[in-house]
Amino acid sequence: MAKILENKKFENGYFLLKVDQGGEATPGQFYMLHPKDGGLLLPRPLSIFDQDKETTTFLIAVVGKGTKTLEDLHVGDPIEMEGPYGNGFEKPNGKKTLCIGGGTGIAPFYHMSKFWKDEDFSIRIGLRERSEELEEIFERASDSIEFVYGGFVTEKMSVENIDQMYTCGPIPMMKSVFEKRENLPVYISLEERMGCGFGACLACSCETKSGRKKTCVDGPVYSGEEMLWESK
Ligand SMILES: Cc1cc2nc3c(=O)[nH]c(=O)nc-3n(C[C@H](O)[C@H](O)[C@H](O)COP(=O)(O)OP(=O)(O)OC[C@H]3O[C@@H](n4cnc5c(N)ncnc54)[C@H](O)[C@@H]3O)c2cc1C
Ligand code: FES
Repeated sequence: MAKILENKKFENGYFLLKVDQGGEATPGQFYMLHPKDGGLLLPRPLSIFDQDKETTTFLIAVVGKGTKTLEDLHVGDPIEMEGPYGNGFEKPNGKKTLCIGGGTGIAPFYHMSKFWKDEDFSIRIGLRERSEELEEIFERASDSIEFVYGGFVTEKMSVENIDQMYTCGPIPMMKSVFEKRENLPVYISLEERMGCGFGACLACSCETKSGRKKTCVDGPVYSGEEMLWESK
């Protein structure tokens, strides 16, 4: 059982939850977190925002009962977490990568800019409301980051000199990234609803061009070309 080390709330409805269980998971991987009244609720999948050998931090948007229950945790409270699960993003290995995150899908890009700090990323983050504090946290990790508030994060997005794109967030946003790819490879991270996180319940099943996949074990990162966008 892990313990809460920090619970920091931002004015735009997001909070950072730091726990005393670390690891070396790759960007795009996730943990299943059991809300406090775990007997009543299924665990919730959450991407790694930051991690070292002793701690893991999650950046969470309150959208419903599970995330609200997590927001109400206090320093010292126990928390059950399982993982890391899933296949994250591939290391770019020198490819200039444009990352586009929106809504609940922004956490992996902070992890990425720290985990692969020698790689060449530019990041666009789309949020409904601004939090200066959150902006500063991202800006400390990346010197090539742009925030778009209350609008479409893909508007005025340039793919000039870009080799590939990574995206995570709402489906319409990722669809728009895919449509504007100009033949570049696009890798998307799906935020399907999940029950178990390790392939046992089929809650995260998703139709792709190569058949049905379980997003928790086959994803959450897929090639955009593999998606049946019309089924989304
Ligand atoms: C691999 C993965 C990584 C994720 N990483 C993060 C993260 O880093 N930070 C973060 O804030 N959230 C993340 N999410 C989303 C997060 O898991 C959900 O927001 C959370 O489970 C909602 O639980 P809830 O009980 O608060 O809301 P619920 O009461 O279950 O739902 C509230 C509302 O949100 C909708 N909703 C809930 N879950 C999803 C979903 N998966 N896809 C689309 N709509 C949904 C519901 O339909 C409902 O309208 C991730 C999801 C996945 C699959
Ligand atoms: S969440 Fe249970 S099979 Fe994927």
